[in-house]
Amino acid sequence: MTSFEDPSAWHDERRVQIRTGRTLGFVPTMGALHEGHLSLVRRSRTENDLTLVSLFVNPTQFDDPSDLAKYPRTLEADLATLQTEGADFVFLPRDVGLYPDRYRYCVTETDLSMVMEGAYRPGHFNGVLTVVLKLLQIASAERAYFGEKDWQQLALVQGMVEAFFVDTTIVACATVRETDGLAVSSRNRRLATEDRARAPRFYDALTFAPSAEAAARELRALGFTVDYVQDHDGRRLGAVRLGDVRLIDNVPLETGHDPHTRCR
Ligand code: PAJ
Repeated sequence: MTSFEDPSAWHDERRVQIRTGRTLGFVPTMGALHEGHLSLVRRSRTENDLTLVSLFVNPTQFDDPSDLAKYPRTLEADLATLQTEGADFVFLPRDVGLYPDRYRYCVTETDLSMVMEGAYRPGHFNGVLTVVLKLLQIASAERAYFGEKDWQQLALVQGMVEAFFVDTTIVACATVRETDGLAVSSRNRRLATEDRARAPRFYDALTFAPSAEAAARELRALGFTVDYVQDHDGRRLGAVRLGDVRLIDNVPLETGHDPHTRCR
């Protein structure tokens, strides 16, 4: 596995790959890797000759500086995991390397980015879309892999790629869940014991309540602080808080089954 910090060094490598006809799958992450991330890496490996994973805690998408400070950074463990998983390349950009413009240039979407997560986290999706555009341009991959866990992010990235004619196919990957239904997230390990025990009820409420309002009521009765539960475009999306841990999740509305992947 080879690491790159510098976009131009990666470009030189990628040019050779393209000349020799090798396809690339790209998995952008902020590190602290878990089974959710690894499902993307595994999918990329089955669909491409080579796989590139980026590890970059993107400062521009954190609306709350304390959230950025608390974000887990586990570089050594992440590199060991990626090596075991058989990733071919890791991209480890530095802040100045990705933002030579000091974030003077920024991608703004004016509709879906304003509701749900966007309403609770002002500026968040500007930061996400901007860094994803930069990363997609640098990676020059045939395919890039995103989780349905962050459905709004996935939909916005898909829209951006169409709007700006980015020549990379966005591949949506099913949410990986713990055996009790809780979506795998680096935040789960920060839940207090009793909060971890009731956290799966979030997924149950989204899945089984007859309406978004009923799901929110049910969750409040269980002691969750509900930021929102909303039905949008065939999915039910929600964000809740247990103590100081914020969880997001979403499920398809109509099919009666959720094609998620359980952790092994
Ligand atoms: P991060 O939270 O590290 O997630 C990286 C990718 O892993 C995202 O596409 C996310 O949807 C996916 N993912 C996380 N948990 C998952 C789960 N339980 N099942 C399936 N996929 C899961 O999302 C980001 O980073 C950043 O916003 C990023 C796109 C890298 C831009 O900075």
